[in-house]
Amino acid sequence: MNSFNIHAVVLAAGRSTRFKTTTSKILASLCGRPMIYFPILALTKNKIPATVVLGYQANEVQSEITEFGFDNISFIEQTTQKGTAHAVLTAQPSWKSADHVLVLNGDTPLVTDEIIKKLVDQHIADNATVSFVQTSVINPSGYGRIIKDGDLIKNIEEKDCTPAQRKIQSINAGIYIFNRVFLEKHLNELSSNNANNEFYLPDLIGVASQLGLTVVVMQEPFDKVRGVNTLEELWAVEQIKRSELMKHWMARGVRFELAQNIHLDVDVTIGQDCFIGNGVLLLRGTTIGQGCVINAFTIIGNSTIGRDTLIRSHTVVQDSTIGDNCIVGPFARIKGMSIIKDDVKIGSFTEISESIVENYAGTTTLSYLSNTQVLMNEKVSAGTIQEQDDDFSLTKKTISLTNKDKTHQL
Ligand code: UD1
Ligand code: MG
Repeated sequence: MNSFNIHAVVLAAGRSTRFKTTTSKILASLCGRPMIYFPILALTKNKIPATVVLGYQANEVQSEITEFGFDNISFIEQTTQKGTAHAVLTAQPSWKSADHVLVLNGDTPLVTDEIIKKLVDQHIADNATVSFVQTSVINPSGYGRIIKDGDLIKNIEEKDCTPAQRKIQSINAGIYIFNRVFLEKHLNELSSNNANNEFYLPDLIGVASQLGLTVVVMQEPFDKVRGVNTLEELWAVEQIKRSELMKHWMARGVRFELAQNIHLDVDVTIGQDCFIGNGVLLLRGTTIGQGCVINAFTIIGNSTIGRDTLIRSHTVVQDSTIGDNCIVGPFARIKGMSIIKDDVKIGSFTEISESIVENYAGTTTLSYLSNTQVLMNEKVSAGTIQEQDDDFSLTKKTISLTNKDKTHQL
């Protein structure tokens, strides 16, 4: 798609006072990924190179993004945040030789690669100066309102609206593409004479319209482009993202008990015919094989579960591997890259850390095993505490551990 020489700018410098947490809001976790991950992913799927504008907590934001190894992503710092237009101006060295400049707000995580492709295609087909996404919502509070007057169109930020303008339900989604020559010419001319004393990027919609240039307005459903300025909006977006994931796995034969109470991260995979109980959390890096039952209030992070295994309620599995046909829990804790092989039974209130349990072995109840190996067919009796098996370090070296990234959430 990028034969038109498009460069994207992702705005991520702001410190949202409305978010009321000290962590940069665009690092807020949304189904196991920082929010900023999603707009960048949508761009890279379209093979559009992008520059992320950093500011508040620049180092943290840059290192989290870098961790995902995206291609063609660069960073630039906006040391004082003077508004979204100023952020795009700061990034000018990155886009000065592009034909078109796509701009995405970093706090719009539901945007998809399809929306971006559609906007770009429309912009090119209409030879437009500015193209942007507009949406409609019953309560438009906090958003810029799109105001039409005959052929003229402009955006007015909520704080600058008259009471009548505030009632307008057409809003700016914060997803734009500009002709670079137009952007270069007019970005510098904007005024910060407004309620926030900021340079507003969406003012360019009105500028292009006033000049009689082509402005393309692309309408999208609110739930695909809504922004996140508050914790309540993050919750709303998370519910949408989570139900998308849930529907994906339902279509592949996974049964969720009380699906509204289950949490899945984006990179979790679940085999056909699994049953996932009420209140289960399946976190980053988790793979569950076919036909497993994961009962209520179990948490599994960064772990692999084989086929036809039953994990009973209130079990926590972290950075570990459990094989096929096992029965684990209730109230078990498996952690520290432990390996539970096939046909193993781990009884209630058992904690297993950095250990290996061989095939057909198991524990009964109330035991603690650390740095040890339970041999094939061996049954650990109730109440056993076993730490550090002297021979174990040798055995352990021969086992290749699959889960390299440790889970942080549990
Ligand atoms: C912005 C739009 C509004 C639109 C809404 C859609 C402006 C002026 N307003 O409002 O019309 O309806 O998004 O969600 O653009 N940022 C910087 N540098 C800055 C300021 C902001 O990088 O100097 C970044 C923020 O980190 C954020 C994005 O730009 O990711 C948008 O800023 P935000 O403060 O969230 O703007 P909104 O009030 O949501
Ligand atoms: Mg916002």
